[in-house]
Amino acid sequence: MSTSEKTLVLVKPDGVARGLVGEIIGRIERKGYTISQLRMLQADRALLEQHYAEHQGKPFFEPLVEFMLSGPIVALVVEGNRVIEGFRNIAGTTDPTVADPGTIRGDLARDAGTKVTQNLVHGSDSVESAAREIAIFFGGK
Ligand code: RTP
Ligand code: MG
Repeated sequence: MSTSEKTLVLVKPDGVARGLVGEIIGRIERKGYTISQLRMLQADRALLEQHYAEHQGKPFFEPLVEFMLSGPIVALVVEGNRVIEGFRNIAGTTDPTVADPGTIRGDLARDAGTKVTQNLVHGSDSVESAAREIAIFFGGK
């Protein structure tokens, strides 16, 4: 049985602003995953409210949306066996201060003292989330 999966990866506005798109994509490629779709976009509020629906009502929701609106982002569909788990592993834990060295967040991000945690990347957390999120960013294309 194939375990090939797809995941939605976002390079968040901090990653684009700091010129880390190539570094982040390079890490995904060197790990051996396949990039099957890619686009740069300026998100709007409606798209982000859909994408982050699970976080509506949490204290960091509004700062998170504001942060994600603050500049362009890069969206990618990444494919491979167990890529959902694998990408989250190379991204590191949510809080970059304690993310392991060797991970994207651990090596390249830190606490910036902002209202919401800025941590360079997003990766889907389940097969269901991946399908939902890929449809939001790449549906109809
Ligand atoms: P992501 O969805 O971006 O891949 O990150 P994640 O699964 O590691 O984290 P999640 O719990 O889904 O939260 C989504 C994003 O919201 C911001 N956040 N800030 N207390 C805070 O300041 C806080 N909590 C969450 C982060 O940007 C996180 O990646
Ligand atoms: Mg998440």
